Amino acid sequence: MNEAALRDTAKELVAPGKGILAADESTGTIKKRFDTIGVESTPENHRIYRQLLFKTHGAEEFISGVILYDETIRQQTDEGVPFAKYLSDKGIIPGIKVDEGAVDMVNFSGEKITEGLDGLRGRLGEYKELGAKFTKWRAVISMGDAIPTDVCINMNAELLALFAAYSQEADLVPIVEPEVLMDGTHDIQKSEEVTYKTLKSVFKKLSEYKIYFPGMLLKPNWVHQGKDNPDKANDKQIAEATLKVLKEVIPPDVPGIVFLSGGDSPEESTGHLNAMNEMDDVAWQLSFSFGRALQEPVLKAWKGDPANIELAQKVFYKRAKLNSLARSGKYEGEIEEENGK
Ligand code: 13P
Repeated sequence: MNEAALRDTAKELVAPGKGILAADESTGTIKKRFDTIGVESTPENHRIYRQLLFKTHGAEEFISGVILYDETIRQQTDEGVPFAKYLSDKGIIPGIKVDEGAVDMVNFSGEKITEGLDGLRGRLGEYKELGAKFTKWRAVISMGDAIPTDVCINMNAELLALFAAYSQEADLVPIVEPEVLMDGTHDIQKSEEVTYKTLKSVFKKLSEYKIYFPGMLLKPNWVHQGKDNPDKANDKQIAEATLKVLKEVIPPDVPGIVFLSGGDSPEESTGHLNAMNEMDDVAWQLSFSFGRALQEPVLKAWKGDPANIELAQKVFYKRAKLNSLARSGKYEGEIEEENGK
């Protein structure tokens, strides 16, 4: 393990004013996203769409890294430049999702575990040759009447720790993502309790597996009421509850926390991140690794029409810029112009 290289990459990924674009939707997930705009989900359409994102002029001012999917890291620009090289040349660090998705857990109804450890060492070597500098593994924790169980939380924590160990062994910075889902009617206190328990278990396992904390990043959910709970917490309440949990659990030598958006709207997500950075008195960088919160308005602007590419890129640039402002608590709401340059 090259500790210095891991530390440098992790630090670069959470450089002030910058965050990560999660463009690693699996084949099933990208189809769901394309269905919302009536675009056929083919590898070529995925390529065209992701090229739109990657080629956005100036995106590198706000985007430090992009998480790619297995299909995407093997694709190229129209000019034949592999996406990973194209991004690196632009100053954006390419990364790769290495888990193979969450599946139903045997004997534990309503709960999931993440697959992908088999053969992971070999795949990491290949991804490294393809240009990846960091990796991501997502675990999913669902909430319900009698769930999550300790068995589910601890098993997912163990898998995350093993993934992180293999990743660091290959000099790839692991992004450890234990996502407590927002689905359900639970209140914010319940989310706080489950997020605490999950992160506690994850960091216990990461310690046991001797993970080098300065060379990893954490990608958590924010503490948040269930989507179907009408009693909505505001940005400040979400930020306070989230930071309370993080301060109790996350060691200070983890360089950064890169939040997922989890289904909140782009505006809500930027608002939560901003509120956290406004009250920032923490050891780690508080940044973003958004999928939907960066891409939803871009997809809507693009709609699969080549004539809309320029407009969609302006929308992406604006969203990235607003999240960049939220990195330092300077987001003051939406701006009208599509391109702040
Ligand atoms: P969302 O921001 O859409 O939740 O996606 C982030 C992600 O990478 C989930 O694994």
